[in-house]
Amino acid sequence: MIVYLNGAFLPPEEASISPLDRGFLFADGVYEVIPSYRGAFFLLDEHLERLRRSLGGIRMPEPGLDEGWEPILEGLLQRNPGGDRSVYLQVSRGAAPRDHAFPASAAPTVFAMVSPIAQTRADPGEAGIAAITLPDQRWGRCDIKSVALLANVLARQQAVESGAVEAILLRDGGVTEGAASNVFVVHGDTVSTPPLGHAILPGITRRFLLDALRDTGWDCREAPVPQEALHSADEIWVTSSTRELVPVTSLDGRPVGGGRPCPVWRRALEIFRCARDRSLGIEDAGAVR
Ligand code: PDD
Repeated sequence: MIVYLNGAFLPPEEASISPLDRGFLFADGVYEVIPSYRGAFFLLDEHLERLRRSLGGIRMPEPGLDEGWEPILEGLLQRNPGGDRSVYLQVSRGAAPRDHAFPASAAPTVFAMVSPIAQTRADPGEAGIAAITLPDQRWGRCDIKSVALLANVLARQQAVESGAVEAILLRDGGVTEGAASNVFVVHGDTVSTPPLGHAILPGITRRFLLDALRDTGWDCREAPVPQEALHSADEIWVTSSTRELVPVTSLDGRPVGGGRPCPVWRRALEIFRCARDRSLGIEDAGAVR
């Protein structure tokens, strides 16, 4: 494995960061996770635009890179050959004597690495996951993709200890999002997902899926999703750049939608993959395996 750190590609054991790095001391940084399929980045501009917005949200200038982000991201894919992969990209405010307020001068720390992406299976029996609901205990700017993920980490851990995979977070009686995903609910022919705002991350997969479904004439709503709507839902899906869209087949220990298969999800996955492959210029668009 080869990672990127501050201008160099190197093995992770040779990549070292100061203990005074503000990412380490304060979680003072932001990140992105960008998927690639067959060697091509999917929705790269959208991810880089969100990175810029996250940097703006924590009042950090974009690092002065000679040739921008692409050579770093492409360089990592070239040095870590394999199947479908995602790049994790993190920018922190850099190393400086410990003080909460911003340092007068510090060079940002830029780190990136590659991870494999497992293809989501098209069979709900194989792809379906269990989830639990938990109170959303995060801060008030969840639209910033901050590396300060302790509340998400604790929620995910509680899910795992309950035999589940994801935690669906609730605030003020409504769904916000998953610990590391956006949430969709299906009632009949209507697909709903909570609206954008400070309470959720503006997921790149969420946006792409909504656009792809609407282009196909589906009734998609970006509207508050009350907690009760989870329990009355025919289907629940979670979306993210590393998992596309995955059906939640059990919630808080009970089968979702009475345990029926997920026909709407299967069609949605097909539409999503078709649109994804078209956007990547891949030939056999729409193949759902
Ligand atoms: N997480 N909401 C949260 C809190 C997330 O952490 C993520 C993704 C999403 C989905 O966003 P997108 O579709 O842009 O990936 C929503 C990444 C994958 C992670 O932290 O690993």
